Amino acid sequence: MYDSGKVILGVAVFLCLASFPAWYNVITSKADYRPDPVIVVSDNQCIESTQYMREYHMQLLKEWRDDAVRNGKTIYTASDNKTYEINLTGTCLKCHSNKTEFCDTCHDFSGVSPNCWDCHNIPKSGK
Ligand code: HEC
Ligand code: HEC
Ligand code: HEC
Repeated sequence: MYDSGKVILGVAVFLCLASFPAWYNVITSKADYRPDPVIVVSDNQCIESTQYMREYHMQLLKEWRDDAVRNGKTIYTASDNKTYEINLTGTCLKCHSNKTEFCDTCHDFSGVSPNCWDCHNIPKSGK
């Protein structure tokens, strides 16, 4: 006869190990999480490096807002000298047109809910 206590312990240990990637992600959270960006555009890169965007898109967006609203700036020059119109809906969401699957998946996961969309438009496909 087997010892059911040991079996249960064994199963518990197994489940723990098997689900490791899932809870490891939850514990370490944020930065490492990578949903597949849903992008419809020929360009295969973001306005700055993916790594940079992953870590700093919030600061970048706040700079954009300040530049636009306070300084009347309309054009952003990226570090590779390409230029982009400073526009949340018109630029970011033109490439990342599915806000729900791109921005929201990541934010839901990290428990952040930027209030930008109270005022800024979401393209139809992203609602
Ligand atoms: C209470 C309403 C409101 C909220 C909330 C808001 N904005 Fe704005 N935002 C505006 C208005 C109004 C303008 C000026 C629009 C213009 O000049 O055409 C603007 C302009 C901007 C611009 C430059 C132009 C454009 O249309 O993109 C950026 C970038 C921007 N906001 C980013 C953000 C971000 C990021 C958030 C969320 C963290 C946010 N905003 C939240 C009202 C808002
Ligand atoms: C010209 C099209 C384009 C524009 C404009 C653009 N992106 Fe991107 N973005 C991409 C592409 C393509 C990737 C994925 C690159 C890769 O897979 O390495 C990406 C990646 C990202 C990532 C990282 C995603 C991840 O998997 O970690 C974030 C965050 C992001 N973009 C936010 C933004 C924001 C915010 C704006 C506006 C300020 C913006 N993007 C404008 C095309 C664009
Ligand atoms: C790779 C995951 C990821 C993607 C994709 C992503 N974000 Fe974020 N975003 C985050 C995280 C994590 C935070 C919180 C950062 C913090 O608190 O330091 C954040 C914060 C923000 C903030 C600041 C919120 C606040 O209240 O301060 C804005 C604005 C924002 N994201 C806009 C966007 C937009 C717009 C997109 C889609 C174009 C996008 N993000 C896509 C992970 C992501």
